[in-house]
Amino acid sequence: MIAPPEGSPPLTNWLIRIPEVFAPWTPEILTLLGVGQTTPLGPEYHLVPTRDPEAFRTGAAAPFIGWNLPVHHSWPCHPPKMENFIEKAAQTLWKKFGPLSPQGIYLGPLQAGAPDRYYKSLASNLRGRTLQLFPGLSGALPAEGQQPEVPTLFGVVGKEGLFAGIQSPRASNGFHPGGTKFISQSAGSTISRAGAKIAEALHYLLLHRPPLPAGAHWLELGASPGGMTWELLQRGQRVTALDRAPLDQRLDGHPGLTFSKADVAVFTPPPGTRYEALLCDMNGDARQALRQVIRLTKYLQPGSPVVFTLKTPGSDTFAGLVDAIRLTLQDAARAGLKLTALTHLTYNRQEFTCFFEVA
Ligand SMILES: C[S@@+](CC[C@H](N)C(=O)[O-])C[C@H]1O[C@@H](n2cnc3c(N)ncnc32)[C@H](O)[C@@H]1O
Repeated sequence: MIAPPEGSPPLTNWLIRIPEVFAPWTPEILTLLGVGQTTPLGPEYHLVPTRDPEAFRTGAAAPFIGWNLPVHHSWPCHPPKMENFIEKAAQTLWKKFGPLSPQGIYLGPLQAGAPDRYYKSLASNLRGRTLQLFPGLSGALPAEGQQPEVPTLFGVVGKEGLFAGIQSPRASNGFHPGGTKFISQSAGSTISRAGAKIAEALHYLLLHRPPLPAGAHWLELGASPGGMTWELLQRGQRVTALDRAPLDQRLDGHPGLTFSKADVAVFTPPPGTRYEALLCDMNGDARQALRQVIRLTKYLQPGSPVVFTLKTPGSDTFAGLVDAIRLTLQDAARAGLKLTALTHLTYNRQEFTCFFEVA
């Protein structure tokens, strides 16, 4: 084996989550990350040794990494076969991580969407027992109530064992283990499945900035049929929504909503209007959609967030996806939009969500 150059950072073990939608490109993603041999854990997680964990958060491969965690404790085992798994695991977590005083403990299943709920219950029971051992920590704190920059004890458990580590939610790219927050998409509770994307995006944004005040005014581009509009209105926000297609009738007459059935390209806000946030989920070419966002940013207050779905129609190769991201971000940077974060949300398909801030 060739020894690394003197002074190289140490090799450490990390857990990364590559969303299932990118599974066909896992080899390309791992190559871009510069990691060698990895151990797959379930359909989405990989145990990877690396000297450069920053590559999980910045750089060309980062948008494909939904969540990351340094593995400070691993117990490869088959939990149902281990006597007193919960008690033994909880005692070890307390001994290892108690002195580090994490702000909270969040444990989840390695396979979040598995129909078998065994590991979801196991993670929840293990969390309950571990919390009892950490004085002063309560299970009552909602995950999004954590301080984004303060270390948390995160862990995932599955048929491959228990993997845990301590890192801030912001560095891990999520408040929840795996980054996921489950949002109901059942018919009747939402107008379109896009509703879950903005719900998750708003939770995610708390990693980077405080929530908008009640009554904040959003400009929404490409709103039909209105799943996202509905979610914003439910949260007490005001929305000016635009689309060539109509909104769902359930939104008719909503007091916080103004709707224009028009092409975004011909829309000009009424004189004097200043929006406090912009949301764009327009389909079609991402750079064309971004052009409209850029044109309309002059009607936003400085510091306003822009939530932009970066769609990738026609990009059916990994290089095509990487290019679509690079070129769109280049356009945004040239127009003075500051990138706060770029991620793949659980409810995204083959698309990404960019979070910008208006200068
Ligand atoms: C993915 S859908 C939006 C779904 C929506 N966010 C929701 O929550 O239900 C994309 C929408 O963008 C609209 N769209 C695309 N280009 C547009 C344009 N230039 N002007 C107006 N609407 C546009 C389409 O009509 C379509 O309804």
